[in-house]
Order: sequence, then C-alpha cells, then structure tokens
Amino acid sequence: MRIYNFSAGPAMVPEPVLKQAAEEMLDWRGHGMSVMEMSHRSPEFLQIAEEAISDLRELMQIPDNYKILFLQGGATGQFSAIPMNLARPGGTADYVVNGIWGKKAAAEAKKFVKVNVAAQADPFTHVADRKDWKLSPKAAYVHVTPNETINGVAFNGDPPGTGKVPVVGDISSMILSEPMDVSRYGVLYAGAQKNMGPAGLTIVVVRDDLLDRARAATPLVWHWSEKSIAGSMLNTPPTYSWYLAGLICKWLKSQGGVRAMAKVNRRKAKKLYDAIDKSAFYDNRIPSEYRSRMNVVFTLAKPDLDKTFAAEAHAKGLKNLGGHRSVGGLRASIYNAMPEAGVDALIKFMKGFEKRYG
Ligand SMILES: Cc1ncc(COP(=O)(O)O)c(C=O)c1O
Repeated sequence: MRIYNFSAGPAMVPEPVLKQAAEEMLDWRGHGMSVMEMSHRSPEFLQIAEEAISDLRELMQIPDNYKILFLQGGATGQFSAIPMNLARPGGTADYVVNGIWGKKAAAEAKKFVKVNVAAQADPFTHVADRKDWKLSPKAAYVHVTPNETINGVAFNGDPPGTGKVPVVGDISSMILSEPMDVSRYGVLYAGAQKNMGPAGLTIVVVRDDLLDRARAATPLVWHWSEKSIAGSMLNTPPTYSWYLAGLICKWLKSQGGVRAMAKVNRRKAKKLYDAIDKSAFYDNRIPSEYRSRMNVVFTLAKPDLDKTFAAEAHAKGLKNLGGHRSVGGLRASIYNAMPEAGVDALIKFMKGFEKRYG
C-alpha cells in the first residue's frame, strides 16, 4: 500500500513515474537492458539525457544563454563549487541568509572566499527587506535561498535586483514548483531529491558569461565550464537518476507544466495553513507572505506531544512529519508529487488529534 510521505527529501515521486520505471526496469524499450546498465555514451542514454535537459529547459523556460548541467555531489557540493567557479581567491561574496541552508552555504563558501553576510533574518521566520541588505560593492555574487526547507521560509517571488552582481539561487526545495524568471539569476542549483527525482542528481543552471570565471585549481568534477563542454559527462554521470528526472519532467508536462502545478501547490499550502491558523492547538509564526508552499512547519500548543503526533500520523499512513532534527516541531513537505488528497488526509488527522489531545 502506498502511503503519503511528507519527508523533506528524498521525497515522493509521482506514481505513474514509478510505474513506468518499474515497467522499463528489465528491458528499456526493447533494448534488453535497464537504463541503469547502459553506457552513458550509448545513443540510447544520450537520447534520454538530451530529452530530460530539453524538457527541463521548456518547463522552467530557461533562456538559451544558460547551460544546464546534470551533476553529482548534491547542493552541498555546490556550496563550495559556487565560490570556486565565480570568485577569485581573496574575493568577496554576499550571502542573504534566511534559514539554516543559507547559513550552511555561507559557512562552506568561507573556505574559498571572503563571505559577507549581507542580511540575516533573525530568527529565521522571514526574509530581510532588500533595503536592509548590506551588499558589498565588489561582490563576485549574491547567494540566496528562495525556499528554506528546514525553516519553512520563502521569498515567494523572484529576488530583488542586485545590479550587475549575479544572483546565485539554491532552489533545491522549490525547483519546478512555481514559475520563475530565470533571467534574474546568474546561477540556479538544486539537489533533485525533493521535486525532481531520486537523490544523486544535482541540477546547475548557469549563464554563459559566468562560465569563464573558475579559478585554476577548481577540481574537474566541480568545474562548470569543463562539465558543460563535456555535456555533463566528463566522468560518469548519475545515469539512473537522470533518467528518472526525465520521466518526472514528462509527467509534469502531462499535468500542464509548472504553471498548472503551481496552482495546485498554492491550493494545497493554503488549505494546510488555513487549518493551522484556524486552530489554537497548531501554530506557525511565519508572516503569510514568507510562508513556504513546499515545507509547512508547525508546532503544537503542547510540544511534548510532537512525538505522539508524528507516531499516530505514521500509523495512519502519513509519514515523516517530524521537524528537522535541528529545529524540532513538525513539518509537512508537500512537493509536486504529494497529491492534494494527502494534504486533505493530513488536515483530517490534525483535526482528530486536536479533539483527542487539545
Ligand atoms: C535548500 C537546501 N539546500 C541544500 C540542501 C542540501 O542538499 P544535498 O543533500 O543535496 O547536499 C538541502 C537539503 O535538504 C536543501 O533543502
């Protein structure tokens, strides 16, 4: 029996995609082998790879002057790849921090570049106003995290302007969930394991003119320009994750694309926040304009019941509702593949729980 998995990632994959992958597991379209067993240089895999990239380009409306890389190493790998590719040794980079992932990205970048925390929301319940960002005049880039997975805080819109300084966005937990204006960013990156498939694949979207800035010592596996020249196949790419990401893109297209998905996502998030706001038992302190539509965090009026809530929900097939280990509380991650019925089931459970324990 399939359950509703509210995990922040790896997360749910649409059922039709899993079914197709199962059907194609032993014999991909009459080729007598699984995609997992194919050479990444074979014409069959190259076709799978190219289709996934062109579908992603279409879905996100990525302009032609951006390269799309399918890499390994997770978003965390990119935390260090970004300064290596964009900043000279001794250079400065600005970080706008509104949650734990932005903080981690800044900490990692410090090994390679002078980090200026241009703004830090404290506590992580909002995004600092643009007028309060203390940007450095010569920054190599400005790093933002438009959706903070752990804190449930989001920009909910494209980032404000930063002049000529390129904006680098960590969109791990919001890729393909909302339309975005890619041209406002120099670089976008995301681990795929939330909205775009299984773990092991990392997407990097980089504007052409930023590909010539890597420092000489940048290892090949982190070198965007070298990776781009090699079509992301400078070494063996995560082939099976790449294939599944491609199936997810096809599924998204069949659902009407990102715009259609965003409508459902907004509806799902609104329902859940409404249920929280209407109750005195559940609480979310984030102002509505900064509330994440992907990761809904909430607390109970009786925090000692967190574990009971998660355990009882688990028994009802609503799994992985515990908050991140660093912040506690509860969190429902409701990415594209979470059906609206899953959110309805959670709300029903929450009402019942409140009646029993409130
Ligand atoms: C916003 C954000 N950035 C970075 C990461 C780290 O990703 P990875 O595990 O792919 O390194 C995560 C993972 O949850 C995330 O949500």
